[in-house]
Amino acid sequence: MLSNLLRIKPMSLLSQEAGEQGEYTLKRSLGAVNLVALGIGAIIGTGIFVLTGPAAARYAGPGVVYCFILAAIGCVFAGLCYAEFASLIPVAGSAYTYGYATLGEIFAWIIGWDLCLEYAFGAATVCSGWSGYVLSLGQDFGLRLPPELAGVPGSTFVLFDGHWELLGRVAAKLNQLGIDPATLPQRHGMFNLVAFLGIMLVTVVLVIGMKESANFNSGIVALKVTVLVIFLVIGISTLVKHPELPRVNWTPFLPPNTGTFGEFGWSGVLRGAGVIFFAYIGFDAVSTAAQEAKNPKRDMPIGILGSLVICTILYILVALTLTGLVNYKFLNIPDSLAIGIDATGVKWGSLLVKFGALGGLTSTMIVMLLGQSRVFFSMSKDGLLPPLFSYVHPRFRTPWISSITVGLVVALFASTLPLDKLGEMTSIGTLLAFIIVCAGVMVLRKRSPELPRPFRAPFMPMTPILGIGISLAMMLGLPLETWERLVIWLIVGLIIYFGYSVRHSKVQKLAKAQAAD
Ligand code: ALA
Repeated sequence: MLSNLLRIKPMSLLSQEAGEQGEYTLKRSLGAVNLVALGIGAIIGTGIFVLTGPAAARYAGPGVVYCFILAAIGCVFAGLCYAEFASLIPVAGSAYTYGYATLGEIFAWIIGWDLCLEYAFGAATVCSGWSGYVLSLGQDFGLRLPPELAGVPGSTFVLFDGHWELLGRVAAKLNQLGIDPATLPQRHGMFNLVAFLGIMLVTVVLVIGMKESANFNSGIVALKVTVLVIFLVIGISTLVKHPELPRVNWTPFLPPNTGTFGEFGWSGVLRGAGVIFFAYIGFDAVSTAAQEAKNPKRDMPIGILGSLVICTILYILVALTLTGLVNYKFLNIPDSLAIGIDATGVKWGSLLVKFGALGGLTSTMIVMLLGQSRVFFSMSKDGLLPPLFSYVHPRFRTPWISSITVGLVVALFASTLPLDKLGEMTSIGTLLAFIIVCAGVMVLRKRSPELPRPFRAPFMPMTPILGIGISLAMMLGLPLETWERLVIWLIVGLIIYFGYSVRHSKVQKLAKAQAAD
């Protein structure tokens, strides 16, 4: 029994699948530049545009830069391991597939199930941030939805200045004016309609086709990188002209701990890193597109590491600039980059940042949803999920049923659950996947040292060990309730595995047939 659960998917079978060409396989249309763009498309999103300000305000002050550095270091180590796997096993499925080839079926299942947290919850988190920017832009142009359709259940809106405003957005202003929010009329959100429609729109793009989505993605990636660069140029020139701003705002750079774990000081950096880690999620999504890459062996490592390096540099500069321009205490708001640019006095800046954020978040949603339906596609091909999930549309050549099912579920998450909880689930799930991938690289080096590795992770075994250590530290920084939800999620997954997958696994059937011969 145990040996069945630990059965690995033979490398020969993986190569055979990767080499298959035909009507029902995915199109190989992506080059190195597409893959780096796909990575940046997945990486830059809600993390930098939405979470940076609140992480500075709640956990680390300007020391949020340390959070970015710590998270980046963890990602580099994990990224090197991902790159080794992705170049070695150039098929769709990401960490799931790698786990199947190295650690065995039960681990593969756990990773695949865990990746749903990364991709499905990740897409929902991003869409939640996206809807915030859509609603905020709508307001700039005088368009508003009734509160019941503008927020998730539990969100509170107050009547302020003649309009229904999300309490979180106006809390600081009310405080300044000495108004107690409890004295204002209140209504509550029930369903975030914009988030629901956002995911549905992206789902349509994905069903229509990969090539179209990748081109669309490249345009948006250029837009959001440009917006971040403009933010930096305007912000840094303001800081240079007014050196007193950073002098005051960066002192103290890391505010002392308040006495509670996770609130400033080094424990704040750890918690902040666990939260801000979300900003880096996505580079591994490149590996899920391996089956659609023209030259996976050369281009996958370029795609993963290239996108990671570019984003790390941008993030550190943006975090330094933002906390230099505005005191961290005033950054606990969702559109903090817009506030940062307002502080420079450049009037058109905030509108530009909002449009850039919208584009940025759209491309992140695309890659996350793409990753999710591709993981389901691979699991279904292996018999671990029903065959429905690997039907490829005869004309569009995309796994359309998988995309639509995933789209509907994610749209429901995004329209009914709060952003910070979705984000924490995404972070913890992804960190767990990283740990398993790093462990997998070590196992495979021992078990099959002879396999050709077009890309080898350097400094073995330090790279995976550090990848595991830093990821675990960031997981430990996250709140206990997030851990509890992770455990529940994994238990549900195991119920499905033992209820369905174990009896339909193709690898197990193959092994039984071979044993019978
Ligand atoms: N890294 C992605 C983001 O920040 C998930 O939105």
